[in-house]
Amino acid sequence: MIKLKKKICFSIAIDGDSASGKTTASKFLAKYFGFKLLTSGKLYRYLAFRIIKDKKKKLDKIYLKKISNNITFKKLQNNKMMYSDNVTSYASSIAKIKFVRKLLNKFQKKFSKNKKFIIEGRDIGSKILPNADLKLFFKCSPKEKAKRRLKEYNKEKRKITLKEVKKSLKKRDYSDKNRKESPLIFVKGAVLVDTTKLTINQMEVKLKKIVLKALKKKYGNL
Ligand code: C5P
Repeated sequence: MIKLKKKICFSIAIDGDSASGKTTASKFLAKYFGFKLLTSGKLYRYLAFRIIKDKKKKLDKIYLKKISNNITFKKLQNNKMMYSDNVTSYASSIAKIKFVRKLLNKFQKKFSKNKKFIIEGRDIGSKILPNADLKLFFKCSPKEKAKRRLKEYNKEKRKITLKEVKKSLKKRDYSDKNRKESPLIFVKGAVLVDTTKLTINQMEVKLKKIVLKALKKKYGNL
């Protein structure tokens, strides 16, 4: 771990495909550099989970506003249901709705008042933190992504094949990249991190270097 000086203000925007390694990376960076972390996918997942749980058939704005205004970090934690197939695909589907994004952006904007922080998601470098000090964009080959995700599912004893995992990741990535509202895009100035051939350790070494370089660029010697 590195202890950064108190005066340092630094923001990192992390975007990328599903299962590209961005969550593992952002957790590592947050811990290593002592940054606050918001995994914004959880906001979409939480809202999707609530809509399903509350059996809402029609998305009414008052209900959505009430739920999203009451989101707390505590509510976003330790909820396995938020990672079920059902919620995962519904999260991606409500993420296309402009009104939903607007509501969830509020939480992200508030979080951006921190001094040292990371937000990870799909539209962070483009919409949420267009002035981030550092933007990272993660990618990984479809085959490798599916293999990694399958490993996680196997640990949880979920019954699913590699082909099915690959298909569902492909569908979600397609939707996230091709939607009209805040699609996942590579923004100019972002650093591309291709994790296809990297072990977690190699990825961490690479990320440390990238972040240290960006910190030194802003603050000189740390
Ligand atoms: O990152 P994660 O896979 O948990 O995100 C779930 C879904 O939430 C994504 O597939 C995407 O549709 C949506 N999302 C989004 N914008 C973000 C973060 C997530 O649209 N900033």
